[in-house]
Amino acid sequence: MTAGALQAANRIWMAPLTRNRADADGTPNDLNVEYYRQRAGSGVLITEGSQPSAVGQGYINTAGVVDDANEAGWKRVADAVHADGGQLVVQFMHAGRISHTDNNGGRRPVSSTGKAAAGEMFTADGMKPHTTPRALETAELPGVAAEFADAASRAVRAGVDGVELHAANGYLLHQFLADGVNDRTDSYGGSPENRARFVVDVAKATAEAIGADRVGIRISPGHPFNDVTEDDLSVYETLVAQLAELNLAYLHVLAEADDPIVAKLKAIWPATFVLNTGFGVEDDRDELERLIADGLADAVTVGRPFLANPDLVERWTRGAPLNEPNPDTFYGGGAEGYTDYPRLAG
Ligand SMILES: Cc1cc2nc3c(=O)[nH]c(=O)nc-3n(C[C@H](O)[C@H](O)[C@H](O)COP(=O)(O)O)c2cc1C
Repeated sequence: MTAGALQAANRIWMAPLTRNRADADGTPNDLNVEYYRQRAGSGVLITEGSQPSAVGQGYINTAGVVDDANEAGWKRVADAVHADGGQLVVQFMHAGRISHTDNNGGRRPVSSTGKAAAGEMFTADGMKPHTTPRALETAELPGVAAEFADAASRAVRAGVDGVELHAANGYLLHQFLADGVNDRTDSYGGSPENRARFVVDVAKATAEAIGADRVGIRISPGHPFNDVTEDDLSVYETLVAQLAELNLAYLHVLAEADDPIVAKLKAIWPATFVLNTGFGVEDDRDELERLIADGLADAVTVGRPFLANPDLVERWTRGAPLNEPNPDTFYGGGAEGYTDYPRLAG
């Protein structure tokens, strides 16, 4: 199948998974190259959420797309994935207020709001409350959109096939969409049109930089994660209708398959529609195949089963048993629980 400029060998794509094993400066290293190379059999391999700017870093040892060293690291990943026939999309995760100054080089996190997110996050000194962010000034927003665009140009220079804008799970772009977080009184807050505006700006800037057919976007309507609350989900219809005019490569929705918003958004999205059935539902090959057969999605993304099964597509094709993911090694560490999940023998 194709999705914009992406040529996917199959409809089982790898979901973005933060693994916290990049170098401290965000540069993908040998271990990361090996991890992605092992998973090149996914239709499209969407990477871990990676910061497009230094202030956008939320967690320790996330990958970045910020400087020349990061770019060189991604080039090695892209070359390895291409050598094994895969397609690589880097997810841009600007964490916004889901961050801590200990984790991002001492910078004050920025957001749609000046209110801190409830809850704590992991730092080198253990769990700490999120740092209180600074609300971005209206005049600063074009500069933030330009950071996404610059990072996208960097990714493409590194040989990456596309980028995915992370507008889900409570990070910066979601902080603009969500009525329970965005308390702005400028043209970027209030009505659904206003709350969607920044995400559309970022998508436009990124598309202008690398071509719309290399840009995907992920949303998670109503997903109460990272202290996001949303009463008014009509923002997603407004957003998707506007994004539909940009000719992006794909829309990636994280939601339960039977959530009515899925069919509603699919109906207004003219291009490739990618579904991830979310944290609640155990992925199972037959169920995912049904979603595609029923026309609810053109492709599905799979997270934890891919994490634990580098050859997931082959296993599902052969009906072979799966390795179980080990949650203790999800975030951070070395090769254990990262590159040592076995492939099928023979
Ligand atoms: C370890 C881990 C890291 C994750 N990191 C990200 C991320 O960086 N970006 C993102 O959009 N979603 C992230 N997610 C969510 C997954 O992409 C996916 O939506 C979720 O795991 C549900 O799919 P699954 O049941 O196939 O695992 C993460 C999930 C897990 C388990």
